[in-house]
Amino acid sequence: MKVLSVLGGRPLYGQVQIHGAKNAVLPILAATVATKETCVIRGCPDIRDVDTALEILRYLGCGVDADGGVIAVNAAGLRRTEIPAGLMEKMRSSVLFLGALLAAEGEAVIYPPGGCVLGARPIDLHISGLRQLGASLLAQGDRLQFQAAKLAGGDVVLPYPSVGATENLLLAATAADDSVRIVGAAREPEISDLAGFLNACGADIRGAGTSVVTVYPAALHGADYRVMPDRMEAATYLSAVACAGGELTLRQMRPCHLQAVTERYEAAGCSIRSYDDALCIRAGGLHAVAPVITGPYPAFPTDAQATLMAALLKADGTTVMEETVFENRYRHVPQLRKLGADIELAGKIARIRGVRSLHGAAMEATDLRGGAAMLTAALGAEGESTLSHIYHMERGYDHMTQNLCRLGAKLELHGTDER
Ligand code: EPZ
Repeated sequence: MKVLSVLGGRPLYGQVQIHGAKNAVLPILAATVATKETCVIRGCPDIRDVDTALEILRYLGCGVDADGGVIAVNAAGLRRTEIPAGLMEKMRSSVLFLGALLAAEGEAVIYPPGGCVLGARPIDLHISGLRQLGASLLAQGDRLQFQAAKLAGGDVVLPYPSVGATENLLLAATAADDSVRIVGAAREPEISDLAGFLNACGADIRGAGTSVVTVYPAALHGADYRVMPDRMEAATYLSAVACAGGELTLRQMRPCHLQAVTERYEAAGCSIRSYDDALCIRAGGLHAVAPVITGPYPAFPTDAQATLMAALLKADGTTVMEETVFENRYRHVPQLRKLGADIELAGKIARIRGVRSLHGAAMEATDLRGGAAMLTAALGAEGESTLSHIYHMERGYDHMTQNLCRLGAKLELHGTDER
């Protein structure tokens, strides 16, 4: 089994280039099936979830050529509209092929998507939204068969700003026979990036990034598009410096996407200088911050909850967190307690009481961001820690351990691939 060993207590210095965003490139790769012309996507991260997306595209019959961070897709040869359960269960974003296939072929058969275990993660909002567009669903156990001879225009209301449901609706709406207004849409930057890609393909999408997005009918053609930088990769490096100490410059990123997060690190005692496409963070003596409540963008992002928690484990004072997006997103807490962390859980509330020091421990990654939090916390612990089940992190971080070593961390990978 693959195990990462981490020797704590070594500060990080230098600079790192942020990769393309996992949660933007995945919907964009799904969107490439909605046109028969070639799409070139640049700045793609080298992560397992992208590999899975390419596996699905090839299974559907698309031509795929991946060379470094540049991926070319041509869906002219699309010959399937059913994605087998074994592919669907590899990641959450497999569900986004639903909206893209409905746009391309008017039908899709999918099975429950996979992804980090953070709660039930149903797709009822995806289904109700697509039904409002005129799609029908025949459910036979886990097999979900959608048909949409035509996709109608009109208003689609989302009772909760689900990121994935907004993306599926955007994708399907590109083939509607009249304009579609998504009311209650998610506002995450990744939504704007998907709309940016679709508009580069000739779509006419307005209002992305706000809670009302309108999609006007348009024929889609190919495009050449660069994916936005990964704000959660950047957030993870903020945590690493806050935990380990030192000073880092993050390049090729957009601080404006991460304001709710950088504000907390500054409030905790880090000094941060932001530029258009870079950010410098210097660690400081950390203290507790005002209550952190996660929520849909532009609130504090749930994906940065675990890594901020790691950064506050040795802060002076107590910080209260409330996780409002997922009902089971504290699975990293028992693992962090192995380091000596003092964290009390009560339902959605976590109370982090700063301790003077943390000691090395053997931890098991529970999910993508929880595993990242264990890694950053271990950087600030005395002695050696180990982290197993790191395939969780390989799904979403491009060469994170190599970058951390280059910045001064002492990490070693042992064992072989288990996934
Ligand atoms: C996306 O997941 C991200 N994943 C998640 O990042 C992120 O945490 C989440 O958005 C929230 O920002 C990708 O983009 C691949 P949601 P998604 O639909 O689309 C409930 C990471 O670490 N819900 O906004 O699945 C759901 O259970 C990952 O990179 C329904 O009830 O998130 C959750 O409680 C983790 N019914 C809440 O809404 C639905 O039909 C938010 O889910 C859909 C969602």
